Amino acid sequence: MKTVDLFQFNASTNIPATLQRTTMDIVEVCNSVFRPFFRNVANRVQEEALNSGCTHIVEMGAGNAPITRRLLESSEGSLTFTVCDLMPDEELYARLEKEHPKRVQGLTQAVDFTIPRQWPPQTLLVLVACFHHVPVAERAAAFETLTNSADRVMLFSPVKKTLFCMFAAVGILVPGLLVPLIYIHRPARLRRMFWCWLLPIAPLIMLWDGVGGCVRQWTTAEWKAVEQNQNLPRSILVESTPNSQTVIC
Ligand SMILES: C[S@@+](CC[C@H](N)C(=O)[O-])C[C@H]1O[C@@H](n2cnc3c(N)ncnc32)[C@H](O)[C@@H]1O
Repeated sequence: MKTVDLFQFNASTNIPATLQRTTMDIVEVCNSVFRPFFRNVANRVQEEALNSGCTHIVEMGAGNAPITRRLLESSEGSLTFTVCDLMPDEELYARLEKEHPKRVQGLTQAVDFTIPRQWPPQTLLVLVACFHHVPVAERAAAFETLTNSADRVMLFSPVKKTLFCMFAAVGILVPGLLVPLIYIHRPARLRRMFWCWLLPIAPLIMLWDGVGGCVRQWTTAEWKAVEQNQNLPRSILVESTPNSQTVIC
């Protein structure tokens, strides 16, 4: 199956911030209420940090920082965190910094993970559900840049390029429509009701991005080709389940 650069709303800086935040809420419900994907990712990151000797985690393309939030709750003070995104959620970052002084820093300027940037030693970069946004033609070079910028890089995807995942992605409409109810006790409930019920654009965007996200993924064989053709500092390990993929370098 060919990898196609289908347009993704979540990589667009042109949608309103309130709509963007609502799509992040839907992603969160899918990957925490409907399946324990974020919990599993957080556990895997913690394990890899321990094994690789990394003490600082940078969550890039963080959205509402699902992995940092979970690790802040579950890990000891030995791990510190930076959260950043092309469209930073400044309000959330400020809250995390206030609740966990000295352990977390939110970068309020846009950080594009395709642009070279040198991170301090013992840094582990974590990208969840976002690397597939990089256009196919630029992706291998972007991965080389990332892996040369830190001691360890982990890419997590909650979907794969398979027909099974594409069909399953249609199911995102269910959490998309339920999110205002599921998060009824959380702040910004009117925002969610507006974008999911009154003008239900958020579930439709997630439907498009969900199916498109599958089409944009790379298979294990395609990742192995990257390993052969690019100048990477370490070898690539690809871990796979029927509906998720982890790439570690
Ligand atoms: C589907 S969301 C995933 C957010 C979060 N990682 C999660 O799993 O909930 C994709 C995120 O990637 C970010 N993103 C897309 N392209 C990016 C880039 N080149 N640099 C940094 N962030 C990017 C978007 O702003 C968006 O927040």
